[in-house]
Amino acid sequence: MPVTHTLEGPLSVDVLGRQDPELAEILLGELERQSTTLQLIAAENFTSPAVLAALGSPLANKYAEGYPGARHHGGCEIVDVAERIAVERAKALFGADHANVQSHSGSSAVLAAYAALLRPGDTVLAMGLPHGGHLTHGSPANFSGRWFDFVGYGVDPESGLIDHEQVRSLARTHRPKAIVCGSISYPRHIDYAAFREVADEVGAYLIADAAHPIGLVAGGAAPSPVPYADVVCATTHKVLRGPRGGMLLCGSELAERVDRAVFPFTQGGAQMHTIAAKAVAFGEAATPAFTAYAHQVVANARVLAQGLAAEGLAVTTGGTDTHLLTVDPAPLGVDGRTARGRLAAAGMVLDTCALPHPDVRGLRLGTAALTTQGMGEAETARIAVLFATALRDESAGRGVREEVRDLTGRFPPYPAH
Ligand SMILES: Cc1ncc(COP(=O)(O)O)c(C=O)c1O
Repeated sequence: MPVTHTLEGPLSVDVLGRQDPELAEILLGELERQSTTLQLIAAENFTSPAVLAALGSPLANKYAEGYPGARHHGGCEIVDVAERIAVERAKALFGADHANVQSHSGSSAVLAAYAALLRPGDTVLAMGLPHGGHLTHGSPANFSGRWFDFVGYGVDPESGLIDHEQVRSLARTHRPKAIVCGSISYPRHIDYAAFREVADEVGAYLIADAAHPIGLVAGGAAPSPVPYADVVCATTHKVLRGPRGGMLLCGSELAERVDRAVFPFTQGGAQMHTIAAKAVAFGEAATPAFTAYAHQVVANARVLAQGLAAEGLAVTTGGTDTHLLTVDPAPLGVDGRTARGRLAAAGMVLDTCALPHPDVRGLRLGTAALTTQGMGEAETARIAVLFATALRDESAGRGVREEVRDLTGRFPPYPAH
């Protein structure tokens, strides 16, 4: 079909500024914040302008319940192509038999995985929340904790590493219907083969919640859960650098159950603008440039871990294999919450997190966003020094803020040209 329309003029972003300056100012203010402070939140990244363009496109107008070729709404012939491209790209990128790209978020993807494999009241073995499990891994405040009987495994308090012996013994005792591997703060590669072995021994499904490492998997910088897990759930917006959203990967034997668990069981209409944006991100992630990016993310995280250890912070597991690390700032005389406040004042944005030692709040940092900005090992090493400087002495925050402004000015997330 010949295309005669463009995204210029009435469909450009400028139209917001003319129609609703109040909201336009908020968008610009957020761009300014993201561009002038350091984004160290391990779950965040900067999507490409192409991903943003797909998100802000007329595909947002389309209702599309169902799947390509079998929709409940008319007029889906073009968005069907977008979804087929997204699915094919995801399958190729991760070497999976089947991909579902409709989940609205990582949590929706986990919900769909449970819906595909479990019944309410089933027992599930997952990393306990105090050790780095996600809300969807059994929090009493979440559907997971209310509808399933979760048993939590943990990390060794000394090494910070997953205690596989504990996983095995809990699995033997509780005979779970599913085992979940994945975390919000585990800095090391997950040993999917070890989890598969335990799942096979007790006849459980293995669900990999790879929300965090999936982007590294795409870039060949982390092992893939796809050969081991029955179902892989993931987000598309972390290291993977796509739009906010979720996805599921599985073998062909579970494809129909997974698809029906997403729609119609847990969701209604697919968000076609987001699915198109996921397709764009998968296309980007299949390039050699993304492979280099993923490896640089890990190299930067390692330099950050080494730098913070050299400054006296306690780095969980002594380092990282991934894009994230967790640290205890206590040796510098501050607790996690105070540290987060001091760092925010100095222009460094990050989260507090659980640490292997009970009742201690630490800090979780990630390098996905700063690596997208083009920062490398030299800049990351400097960030470690600035980080510790801001923590040690509150009055140093102003000077650090200026240096952060200078650094981010040299590495804009969205360069003008
Ligand atoms: C391990 C894990 N699972 C699930 C999620 C949920 O993703 P979302 O916030 O998109 O619902 C996250 C988000 O950080 C996560 O880290």
